[in-house]
Amino acid sequence: METRWSGVRNFKSGLCLWLILWLVVVKPGGVSACPKLCVCYPTPMTVSCQSQNLTIVPAGVPYNSQRVFLQNNRITELRTDSFGFETQVLWLYGNNITWIEGGAFSNLRVLEELDLGDNPLQRLEGGAFRGLEKLQSLHMHRCKLAVLPHDLFHKLYSLQFLYLQENQLHFLQDDLFSDLVNLTHLFLHGNRIRALSENVFRGLVNLDRLLIHDNRVRQVHRKAFRDLGRLTILYLFNNSLSELPGQAMKDTHGIQFLRLNGNPWSCGCEARALWEWFREARISSSELMCTSPSQRRGQDLRFLRELDFAFCPLPDPGSLAGSTTTTLSTKTRWWFSKNKPCIIFQVILPEEC
Ligand SMILES: *[C@@H]1O[C@H](CO)[C@@H](O)[C@H](O)[C@H]1NC(C)=O
Ligand SMILES: *[C@@H]1O[C@H](CO)[C@@H](O)[C@H](O)[C@H]1NC(C)=O
Ligand SMILES: *[C@@H]1O[C@H](CO)[C@@H](O)[C@H](O)[C@H]1NC(C)=O
Ligand SMILES: *[C@@H]1O[C@H](CO)[C@@H](O)[C@H](O)[C@H]1NC(C)=O
Repeated sequence: METRWSGVRNFKSGLCLWLILWLVVVKPGGVSACPKLCVCYPTPMTVSCQSQNLTIVPAGVPYNSQRVFLQNNRITELRTDSFGFETQVLWLYGNNITWIEGGAFSNLRVLEELDLGDNPLQRLEGGAFRGLEKLQSLHMHRCKLAVLPHDLFHKLYSLQFLYLQENQLHFLQDDLFSDLVNLTHLFLHGNRIRALSENVFRGLVNLDRLLIHDNRVRQVHRKAFRDLGRLTILYLFNNSLSELPGQAMKDTHGIQFLRLNGNPWSCGCEARALWEWFREARISSSELMCTSPSQRRGQDLRFLRELDFAFCPLPDPGSLAGSTTTTLSTKTRWWFSKNKPCIIFQVILPEEC
């Protein structure tokens, strides 16, 4: 009996000692606890664990950290239980992340900046960014992304900067960005996008910069830029455009910098609406070299003359929303209706016919 009691007492005092030791060493409350291999510093409360060959998000990151730096490690997965802390800035670029569980970030309620650049993500689940309603900046450049789920950006109402450049995207779903009412910068350059559909940019009413250069864009729907009234910078250089609907450009009322060089422009009748837009908008733009028809090769589409379009059929009023003025004077039109043009592409004056 005696020995048993003292055993219990010894056990109890041992427990006390451990408790005191734990309080001294670990200091719960997280004021100055710092995970192994990390450096921590205050104001703003920062935990920096970069370039440590970490393969998982370390445990013990203080709950109230404001910035958590985990870049250039070897982290492979992000799960809902990866983040036991709340932070405003989370850098995870240059890791080896291939899988993000749906809702992985949903505990990070105050997250404003998330950098996932340079990870071999390849594909993402629709719910990967669920709950990030305060997120302002999302970096996913060079992540080998080929397609994006249609609901990937749902409810990211605060997002202002979205970096998707240098991936392998070949297709963007309709309404992919439709919740991003506060987005100002959308970077899509260096992908393989082939077409911009009617609803691809729907909802982007605050977009200021749209960079889609170095893609394979051939087709732009005439309503593709309908919501982009606040756009000031549009880069479409180095694509495969031979035409661009004049109506699409008209919808971008505030455009200031336009780059359309490095495209194989057709400068026959199909160019007229764009040429007219340039004549009225008078904005600065890079060159638009014609590649066809052959006699206009090397000319700049912007500097074609009215006569270059003299023998084009009149634009279909329905397709231009009734707002385009024709380049043909009434007199020319009268002449045109009574005479069949003798040469189609070469410019000749009516009197010579
Ligand atoms: C990380 O791993 C690489 C390659 O194994 C090694 O050269 C480097 O020293 C490691 N870095 C650290 C901080 O352990
Ligand atoms: C990345 O993860 C894969 C397994 O998913 C592994 O084979 C590869 O070696 C890892 N790369 C680095 C640099 O750690
Ligand atoms: C969009 O931004 C404005 C100001 O930047 C802010 O007042 C508004 O709450 C934001 N909208 C949403 C839905 O977060
Ligand atoms: C267009 O792309 C080519 C090859 O991808 C590149 O060499 C060239 O610099 C790009 N042009 C511009 C204007 O960026």
